[in-house]
Amino acid sequence: MEQQAEADVRSAGSGAEIRIEPLGPEREHSAAALLALAFRDNPVNRAVIRGGADRRLRVNAYGMQTSLLASRRFSDRRVLLERGENDPNSSICGALVALDPGGYPVAPPPLGAQLRCLWGQGLGVMRRFGALYRQLDERHPKDPHAYLALIATHPERRGRGHGRALLSAWLRNVDALGVASYLETDRRELLGFYQGAGFEVACELRAFGIPIWCMRRPARHRTSQAEESQIKEGKHVRKTTRW
Ligand SMILES: CC(C)(COP(=O)(O)OP(=O)(O)OC[C@H]1O[C@@H](n2cnc3c(N)ncnc32)[C@H](O)[C@@H]1OP(=O)(O)O)[C@@H](O)C(=O)NCCC(=O)NCCS
Repeated sequence: MEQQAEADVRSAGSGAEIRIEPLGPEREHSAAALLALAFRDNPVNRAVIRGGADRRLRVNAYGMQTSLLASRRFSDRRVLLERGENDPNSSICGALVALDPGGYPVAPPPLGAQLRCLWGQGLGVMRRFGALYRQLDERHPKDPHAYLALIATHPERRGRGHGRALLSAWLRNVDALGVASYLETDRRELLGFYQGAGFEVACELRAFGIPIWCMRRPARHRTSQAEESQIKEGKHVRKTTRW
């Protein structure tokens, strides 16, 4: 998927500046650490990895690194960087990984990466993740669509609009392509967040006793140039949603 040539730059309030940039291989390690932390306490992670918070963080980092390696092709990958007012350094506060239409399912990563993941996660965790992915795969749409595989923000930086900024940056590209989009979430409290962006619940399933919602957003017509510039200026309000 063609990404915006220029980074998205916004003010996050209190002098902080946020930038949304493409996620390249050089930032995968930091992004995997952030994703592992962000998903550490999600219900599915608790059920699949089991054990305490430290174990879930460590084990999940292996899975995230492997997923990021596998998603290098046919993907729209972004990181959200935040820089404080007097801070010369930016830190990764959010990440998004979405597969382009036709990009699902991703090809497995190289054997070495799979073995490293097995070593880091253990056979039981990998088997349970495998069972989960097979269940999700049974419901995965067959028609062309963009797939939001991962979206996450740092637990201490939530509620500041970072998640919304990442999601809307991706959806602008999805709408430019004019395709439907799809995601799954194991957090009931996020249904409204996605519904506000135009997603609707397409199905509900249970994995390891945990409810998971599959959500679908119909294709929208291409965003016109006038709409695009309004979005960039923050003036654009859709008739049916706040996005
Ligand atoms: C989903 C996630 C990325 C949202 O990030 P965020 O930085 O908090 O997002 P925003 O600040 O833009 O908030 C977006 C909206 O979701 C709501 N929201 C986010 N997390 C919420 C929570 N745990 N409970 C209730 N509402 C929540 C916010 O209230 C906000 O709605 P509002 O603008 O109407 O107030 C973040 O909660 C996260 O990383 N979760 C863990 C990983 C995950 O489950 N990812 C999604 C599945 S792939």
